[in-house]
Amino acid sequence: MSDKPEKFIDENGIRLDGRRADEIRPMTVEMGVLSRADGSCYLEWGNNKVLAAVYGPRELHPRRLQRPGEALVRYRYNMAAFSVEDRIRPGPSRRSTEISKVSGEAFEPVVMTQYYPSAVIDVFAEVLQADAGTRTAAINAATLALVDAGIPMKGLVAACAVGKVDGQLVLDLNKPEDNYGDADLPIAMTEDGDITLLQMDGNLTVDEINRGIEMVKKGCEQIFEIQKAALMSKFGTIEEEEVLED
Ligand code: CDP
Repeated sequence: MSDKPEKFIDENGIRLDGRRADEIRPMTVEMGVLSRADGSCYLEWGNNKVLAAVYGPRELHPRRLQRPGEALVRYRYNMAAFSVEDRIRPGPSRRSTEISKVSGEAFEPVVMTQYYPSAVIDVFAEVLQADAGTRTAAINAATLALVDAGIPMKGLVAACAVGKVDGQLVLDLNKPEDNYGDADLPIAMTEDGDITLLQMDGNLTVDEINRGIEMVKKGCEQIFEIQKAALMSKFGTIEEEEVLED
């Protein structure tokens, strides 16, 4: 029997988890949580728990994969076997291979790979607990792990999904909305609002997609603020120290 809720949004416009249509779930981040990685970030977003680790830049082997003028950004998204209700079979799957590919590409416009010819920058995103929106959660954590590793970047990348339930667009789908909703549109973007990842599951009209993108932009603005606050609390004292020294 399906446990699809009868209604996703009540008469007051409130969703099953208490949010309004344009609200994202609470997000917390902590950088530098792994001492053996060059950069890392642990992120919680609603009930999602994700760990991102960055290694590199380092020389890429086998050498035939090296790019003479730039570094290769290699991204691996993985769901832990215990991260979902039904145990996930360990190892790569079609889904994780696809998510890894498009998530890595989401960083192409911002990572300044030209400084590290023939090198590789490895990004590992481990989903420890999944509750819808894990690819976007992983991208938000990976951005901070890349900065934590000291990788030069033109700016940050944030990601959030929008979808449709009860005929209405809703931001940052929760699990029932993702499972039983009419559409899921995960998007990643730069701080300039340039879209670097866009996938779609389900059906939306062109007008709904355009309105959905605007909702995601607002969600990503909030995520950029959370990311910047984390950066300020980790690195923000440098300027103050310099001022004190003068
Ligand atoms: O997580 P995301 O929304 O990026 O990807 P999805 O393929 O739309 O999956 C939505 C959710 O379904 C995940 O966050 C998991 O909670 C769940 N899922 C699962 O239980 N088992 C899988 N093999 C894949 C996903």
